[in-house]
Amino acid sequence: MSELTHPYILAFDTANEIIAIGLGALDPADRSVSLAASVEIEAHRASNTQLLPRIDALLSECGIDKHAIACVVCGRGPGSFTGVRIAMATAKGVSAALEVPLYGVSTLDSIAWGLQHAGVRGHAVVVADAMRKEVYPVRFELSDEGIARLEADSVVKADEAAERLAGGWPAHSAAKEGAANAAGLEADAVNAADAAGCTGAVADAAGGASAVPVVAGDALKKYADLFEPCGTFADEPLWTPTGQGLLLAAQAAWREGDIDPFDAAFGNPAFALPVYTRLSDAEENERIRLSKNEPKNLRTGVQDTGIRRDQRATVRDSAIENAQADENGITYRPLDAAHAQMVAHLETELMGTDAWSEALVLDELPRKDRVWWAAYDADDALVGYAGGWIVDGQVQILKVATVPAMRRCGIARSLLARIASDARDLGAKSCSLEVRASNESAQALYRALGFESIGMRPRYYSDREDAVIMEGPLPLDHHDVAGMELMVHSDAEPCDTSDETAVQRADSRERIEGSQPLVLAIETSCDETAAAIVDGRGSLVSDVVASQIDFHARFGGVVPEIASRKHIEAICGVTDECLDVAAERIGVPRLRWRDLSAVAVTYAPGLVGALVVGVAFAKGAAWAADLPFIGVNHLEGHIYANKIATPDITPPLVVSLVSGGHTMLVHVKAWGEYVTMGSTLDDAVGEAFDKVAKAMGLGYPGGPVISKLAAEGDASAIGFPRAMLHSGDLRFSLSGLKTAVITYLRNEEAAGRTVDKADVAASFQQAVIDVQVAKAEMALKLTGAKEFCLGGGVAANPALRAAYGVMCEKLGVRLTLPPMSACTDNAGMIALVALDRYRAKRFFGLDADAQAHVDIDQPY
Ligand code: KG4
Ligand code: ZN
Repeated sequence: MSELTHPYILAFDTANEIIAIGLGALDPADRSVSLAASVEIEAHRASNTQLLPRIDALLSECGIDKHAIACVVCGRGPGSFTGVRIAMATAKGVSAALEVPLYGVSTLDSIAWGLQHAGVRGHAVVVADAMRKEVYPVRFELSDEGIARLEADSVVKADEAAERLAGGWPAHSAAKEGAANAAGLEADAVNAADAAGCTGAVADAAGGASAVPVVAGDALKKYADLFEPCGTFADEPLWTPTGQGLLLAAQAAWREGDIDPFDAAFGNPAFALPVYTRLSDAEENERIRLSKNEPKNLRTGVQDTGIRRDQRATVRDSAIENAQADENGITYRPLDAAHAQMVAHLETELMGTDAWSEALVLDELPRKDRVWWAAYDADDALVGYAGGWIVDGQVQILKVATVPAMRRCGIARSLLARIASDARDLGAKSCSLEVRASNESAQALYRALGFESIGMRPRYYSDREDAVIMEGPLPLDHHDVAGMELMVHSDAEPCDTSDETAVQRADSRERIEGSQPLVLAIETSCDETAAAIVDGRGSLVSDVVASQIDFHARFGGVVPEIASRKHIEAICGVTDECLDVAAERIGVPRLRWRDLSAVAVTYAPGLVGALVVGVAFAKGAAWAADLPFIGVNHLEGHIYANKIATPDITPPLVVSLVSGGHTMLVHVKAWGEYVTMGSTLDDAVGEAFDKVAKAMGLGYPGGPVISKLAAEGDASAIGFPRAMLHSGDLRFSLSGLKTAVITYLRNEEAAGRTVDKADVAASFQQAVIDVQVAKAEMALKLTGAKEFCLGGGVAANPALRAAYGVMCEKLGVRLTLPPMSACTDNAGMIALVALDRYRAKRFFGLDADAQAHVDIDQPY
């Protein structure tokens, strides 16, 4: 065996309130991992600040260079959602930039391995805290050979889990040898445990094992009384993962062939994802609501607003336009009870005597281990549906059906991808289904998705046809970024390399050096996963955005937990695409992390769980590629977005920041020096647009729909209030306006009058604009600034842009409007800030964290 140049494996986990790091040496000869170092550190709410500094310190203490790491392994949960994402995002960044494989291992298995290593044998159970009075319980049999898991991950009420565990133990063949005569050895085993300094039961000298289960897991901190009857508690340091446990879990996976530390394609970091075992609260509540036949606006998912029925028809129509249909005009939504009858109807048509009844379908919907999705055409007719049942780590497809007229449009595939995505969040790792032996086209589809036939069910169908049982990986939409649409921009013309010879191609290094500094920036503060690269001339050579709007629209606003999940799914795809686009523009075959000059990220303000993903990933990549790490304030990014349209824009200037989260006037005295002149006392402007749109049943986000509708309305039709117009200062208030619109809609309905929605939209928008423009004019006069610009999502509003044009012309002030694509969140604007900070050498440490709120006036 030749000398290994990459002989180490780095493993870590932050699913609990501790950081566990393991460093092991790899021996391919017997697929063994030998311990180099294992540390566990208490890190209450500090995983993101402590993880990388600790990894870095551990490597130095061991005298191991990071380039000697062949493979990264990361605990994938279940555990704290944010905790798991911190480890996973860091691991993705490290693995991507080191160009080594990344694999996830179960946090619970790692804990079991920790117990096994400490000498525990026989029954063991890990119960990890799942919050909300729930736990993740998994039973294991531990032997000298290793651990055998007896059940898949699941989330269970703590008291139910305790009851079940106290009640008995499932039979398991692998455990039999050790456990068979264990009863008689119990006392000895406990004595041996004491001798070993462990309060739990461990194997006795003869290799027997205790029948009294050993209990571990951080749920014991909260529920010690509850789990007391379930067995003997292990020593507390073994309740959470250890570095050693992670390495043993990795070694077992290597021996099983589930991971290969030397195969970068197999260990693509994009594919490693957390185990959640449950959907987000918003999705769970949605499923509960959809499983009941409650009256509601089915299209927008918004509860009935009280707008009259005849108006609702048009409201609904505009919402359809707003819903994101695919290129065939198909929209996908979780199946609801209101459509169960239609499903039953199609079942009779398509499945004959194997058809499911409406009652059967209705019975499925509220079940927590089921996922059902439906497809609708442009007229909102049901054209397909599929259901899955998550059992023991596998999703069994119960139904997939598409109406004959809509076959071969990829509907079945899309439905399966959605089922798979939910099933993965619920803990499924593989998929199985039955298909008619004669249905060759369906079998071909499944084979294309990686399924294999594993057997037959003779005469399975009511007409006695055989079923082929097929099994395969979760049929996720692979390379697309987690189902999101990728938007790619670039300032630079693609470099024409078509007539270049291979010799000239060797100039890659020079081309990359000629573009330096190259700064890659990442943005994940809200619902867009974005990455961009700026070159030394300030051009955005690559600017990629994956928007999640589709995933939030059903809920009428951004759902933080869904946003965080989508960021971690998309971050590798988005950054890979960003590097590829930049390579093409620069004219080199490939741009690698180590070719960059720095890695930057939005660190604040925003949704903290969403920011954390970008920050952890960016830090991991910066560390692995030995690059400086730059933190950027998101609001400063919105200001810098104006440089895209007007590169020579120069302070002093006044900027109006108007988005879903902010409404403020800022005096830019110099780049990096900001004074907030006034901001909103309550709602942000974008928020007001969104809430008014929701009240009118127009869907989410509200800004674009309202501005489109307003273009057809009379802005002076209704005199909505102009709050704070004469307050004499630069503060804003928008909640009164929003309430006035809602009250107006209600009163008109009560009076039996028909509401002209275009007039409402136009009048509302005008009330917003009047105040915005008046205050901006005041700010310009107060500062004497000769430049005015805009930032934030609402800056895309055409009427607002036009009104500022008139005002600035009157004052003789130059107006800069950011390009439409740079108004909403993007990473290009973050990269522009980062370039300035790179030049000023203003770097962040690896202990930097995400922050929900920061004041733009404070230098950072
Ligand atoms: O800056 P952004 O993308 O995200 C935040 O940081 O909030 O802004 C999104 C906000 C949403 O509230 C959306 O309704 C609003 O910008 N928006 C608009 C328009 N386009 C987007 N508001 C008014 N008119 C528009 N045309
Ligand atoms: Zn923003």
